[in-house]
Amino acid sequence: MLSNHTFAFLGAGNMARAIVGGLLRTGHESTEAVAPSSVRASRRTASLLEELTESFPGLVTTTSNRAAAEGASVVVLASKPQGFADVVADVKDVVRDDALVVSILAGITTKQIEAAFGRELAVVRTMPNTPALVDEGATALCGGRYATDAHLALAREMFKAVGKVEILPEHLMDAVTGLSGSGPAYIYMVVEALTDGGVKQGIPRPIAARLAAQTVLGAAKLVVETGKHPAILRDEVTTPGGTAIAAVADLEAHGLRTMLINAVGTATARSAELARLREEASKAS
Ligand SMILES: NC(=O)c1ccc[n+]([C@@H]2O[C@H](COP(=O)([O-])OP(=O)(O)OC[C@H]3O[C@@H](n4cnc5c(N)ncnc54)[C@H](OP(=O)(O)O)[C@@H]3O)[C@@H](O)[C@H]2O)c1
Repeated sequence: MLSNHTFAFLGAGNMARAIVGGLLRTGHESTEAVAPSSVRASRRTASLLEELTESFPGLVTTTSNRAAAEGASVVVLASKPQGFADVVADVKDVVRDDALVVSILAGITTKQIEAAFGRELAVVRTMPNTPALVDEGATALCGGRYATDAHLALAREMFKAVGKVEILPEHLMDAVTGLSGSGPAYIYMVVEALTDGGVKQGIPRPIAARLAAQTVLGAAKLVVETGKHPAILRDEVTTPGGTAIAAVADLEAHGLRTMLINAVGTATARSAELARLREEASKAS
C-alpha cells in the first residue's frame, strides 16, 4: 500500500528523517518498502540535504517546498509549527486535490491546516515521539474533516514503520503530547536517577547506566509483550519481606505515581496553552 505512493516531506529534519528511514527500510511486517525515488524531502539548508542523500541514496531532495509537494500523493508537514502557514501558502496550489496531508506539527489543529489550504483536502494530524529514531516511536493520530478511514489507514501504515500507532479523537492530542510526546523526557530522568542510585551503591557509572537503561527497556517490553497490567508485573517481582517491596513502599511514600500523573497533566495544559498562544499570534499577524 505504501509503495504505491509518492511522499513529500516539507521540513527534512530529525523527525522526517526517522520516518523516511522507516518507509525505505525493507522487511517491515505489514507493508512493502517504499522506493527512495518515490520520496522527496525539502529544507532550506542545501548542505544538510546532501547528508540526507548520503544516508538514503536515490532520495529526491530540494530546497523548494513547491518542487517537493507538486504531484505527491502524500504531503508531510514536518517543519516547525511556527511559520507553517507560510509553507502551506507556498505549496497549496501545487498540492493535488486527492493528496493526503499528514502533519507532525505539534499543536496545529486539522482545522487550522484545512483553513491554510483553503480547500477540502484530507488532513491527518499526528503526534510522534523521538524514539521513532530507533523504530520504537509511539504515535497518535487523528483525522480532519475530509479524512476517510482509508486516509487514516495510510497514515497508520507510515508511522508503523517507526513504532506503534494509536488513533484518537483530536481533542486528546494535547494529552498525547503530555504522555507520549513529552514522556521520553520523564523516562530519561528515571534512567539518570536509577544510574545515580547504582553509583551511590558503588557500581561503576558506565555499568550502572547500562543496567538502568536496559532495566527500563526490559520492563517496558514485558508490559507490551505480556499484555499484563503493570501492577501484576510489579507484584511478581515483590517477594514478601523482600528488597523490591521495601523500595516500592519508599517510592509510594514520596509520591512517585502522583508526580507522574501530575507531570502528564502539566505538560497537557502547557500544550493547550502553547497552541492557544500560536493561534492568537497568527491571527494578530
Ligand atoms: N522532536 C519531537 O519530539 C517531536 C515530537 C512530535 C512532533 N514534533 C514536530 O515535528 C516537527 C519537526 O521537528 P524536528 O524535531 O524534526 O525538528 P527539526 O529537526 O528542527 O526539523 C525541522 C526541519 O524543518 C526545516 N524547515 C524549517 N522551516 C522550513 C521551511 N520554511 N521550509 C522547509 N523546511 C523548513 C528545517 O530545516 P532548514 O532550517 O534547513 O530549513 C528542519 O530540517 C515539529 O513541527 C515538531 O513540532 C517533534
